[in-house]
Amino acid sequence: MPLQSSVRPLKKPRLDDEVRFLRSWIEKPLHVGAVMPSSRLLARTMAQYVDVRSEGPVVELGPGTGAITNALIEHGVDQKRLVLVEYNPGFCALLRERYPQAKVVQGDAYKLRDSLWDVLPTPAAAMVSGLPLVTKPMITRLRLIRDAFAALAPGAPFVQFTYSVVPPIPKSLPGVSTEASERIWMNLPPARVWVYRKGR
Ligand SMILES: C[S@@+](CC[C@H](N)C(=O)[O-])C[C@H]1O[C@@H](n2cnc3c(N)ncnc32)[C@H](O)[C@@H]1O
Repeated sequence: MPLQSSVRPLKKPRLDDEVRFLRSWIEKPLHVGAVMPSSRLLARTMAQYVDVRSEGPVVELGPGTGAITNALIEHGVDQKRLVLVEYNPGFCALLRERYPQAKVVQGDAYKLRDSLWDVLPTPAAAMVSGLPLVTKPMITRLRLIRDAFAALAPGAPFVQFTYSVVPPIPKSLPGVSTEASERIWMNLPPARVWVYRKGR
């Protein structure tokens, strides 16, 4: 698929979001995992893996100040389809204000079954994650993707970015197909998007 198309101009993230982010990072560096929100190019690349013609909820894990949420909406995902799972209460308040039609779940994405228990009416059409996965042990990452696949429709993508040079989740899991974007240099730090699909 994607596609680092850059037809539209790349606006800088909002300064107040950068300040919010930096403040959260200073408080909890391992939780936030980045000093700045994702760039527009990274966010747009993530969003492009979501098929807007698919049906069902689109789940975002660790939306922060909404850099990827914005890109999903610009990509054509109806705000009403969005389920945003965020741990940080300050970010949750901001997300509720910015995306009043989305479902904001204040919860732990690594306990996905609990967090999504009563908010997913049907299997999800996509799951897009900005979680700082590589700060977690591999067993936690594998449990996350197992629970993600349980919530996703067959063949639906689990989309994850990473600053790491290796995939955040192994690319040779049984029954799982994997693809990756090119490295996105227009991000601080540069990142790559990995996409995992099961069962089609
Ligand atoms: C690297 S930031 C990405 C933020 C945003 N998606 C972006 O790309 O700019 C990671 C985000 O994940 C959130 N987060 C970290 N651990 C989490 C958890 N266990 N459950 C839900 N959100 C979590 C952080 O609060 C932060 O908003």
